[in-house]
Amino acid sequence: MSLTIGKHTVTWPLIQGGMGVRVSGAGLAGAVARSGGVGLIACAGIGINSPHYNGRNYFSAEPLAIKDELAKARALAPLGIIGVNVMVATTNYEDNVRAACEGGAQVIVCGAGLPMNLPGLTTDWPDVALIPIASSLKAAELVARKWKKAYDRLPDAVVVEDPDTAGGHLGEKLENIGNGTYDQYETVRQIKQHFVDVYNTVVPVIAAGGIWDRADVEYALAQGADGVQMASRFVCTVECDAADAFKQMYLDARPEDIGLIMSPAGLPGRAILSNIEGVRSRDRDLGIRCPSNCLKKCTYKESGERFCIVHSLDRAQRGDVETGIVFCGTNAWKADHIETVADVFEELFGAESAAKSAVSA
Ligand SMILES: Cc1cc2nc3c(=O)[nH]c(=O)nc-3n(C[C@H](O)[C@H](O)[C@H](O)COP(=O)(O)O)c2cc1C
Repeated sequence: MSLTIGKHTVTWPLIQGGMGVRVSGAGLAGAVARSGGVGLIACAGIGINSPHYNGRNYFSAEPLAIKDELAKARALAPLGIIGVNVMVATTNYEDNVRAACEGGAQVIVCGAGLPMNLPGLTTDWPDVALIPIASSLKAAELVARKWKKAYDRLPDAVVVEDPDTAGGHLGEKLENIGNGTYDQYETVRQIKQHFVDVYNTVVPVIAAGGIWDRADVEYALAQGADGVQMASRFVCTVECDAADAFKQMYLDARPEDIGLIMSPAGLPGRAILSNIEGVRSRDRDLGIRCPSNCLKKCTYKESGERFCIVHSLDRAQRGDVETGIVFCGTNAWKADHIETVADVFEELFGAESAAKSAVSA
């Protein structure tokens, strides 16, 4: 049942999805890696709540914070597989990728845009596994063609993220989400087949979005996925790096509280909407201008439209859920207690999971 991605093998076929800002930091990523999955630190905005940040030096603080966080996760799971999630839409995407490699990341997963130049940024670290997130066959095809032509390299895996269920920024137009046309596992199978047909290679394809319990994992594997990427399920764990108030939002959420908003990044995002007026009005009322220039394209930076996403996510992570945005997948309402990461692995993979991963980590 193990999962091999490039040069790295984990006991269980699970990647913990990157969750910015600092919802998946060293605490969560280290615990997941220790339990035998791939633990991912989310890089977006990671510098803000770090000792390196003085309110003005966002871009120099981020790489230092990434390296700190990787070192902390490594201390928690010396033999585990630890990586980062980097958003392509962020201004400092390239610097963060390099910082992650220098800090010892073994896996880089890239979302919020297609990482067309990723292999070029990591040539000095050939063992780092490179994984794009794609929501369609077309997106996976584009990345593969570019990587093969420009770098003679293919993705070490592809994460197929279902826009109808996943949390955070979504790689699909608002009007196409939830209209019944998206087929997550058909997309998984198409992408897998594409690599066989065009490149004569088997590339692991990982399903993400809406996977919550053991039945969901078994279904994903039965439908042709080589593994799962799960994020929302890990929020209500002891080890998750978000404040208790953030976790409480999940515990309190009802299905009807979860919905879509347009992010200033120009992408739709899925979040808990019960506090959304507070999120929207905060920056408007205070008249705050773009503080960090964190995104390459941002409606808030350009015209004051919507709200500042990175600081809103940062506030939520610290426990200000009056004005901070709480991203989540459609299944977040299922959270009804705080558990440990080991409990989650136990539920997902059975009684032997703890013993087995204790040997590997
Ligand atoms: C709180 C939260 C923050 C997220 N932040 C990021 C991020 O920074 N980068 C990214 O690529 N995906 C992000 N995601 C998406 C997840 O990594 C994951 O692919 C998706 O949520 C999977 O669906 P699930 O939550 O139903 O398991 C985020 C999701 C959540 C819930």
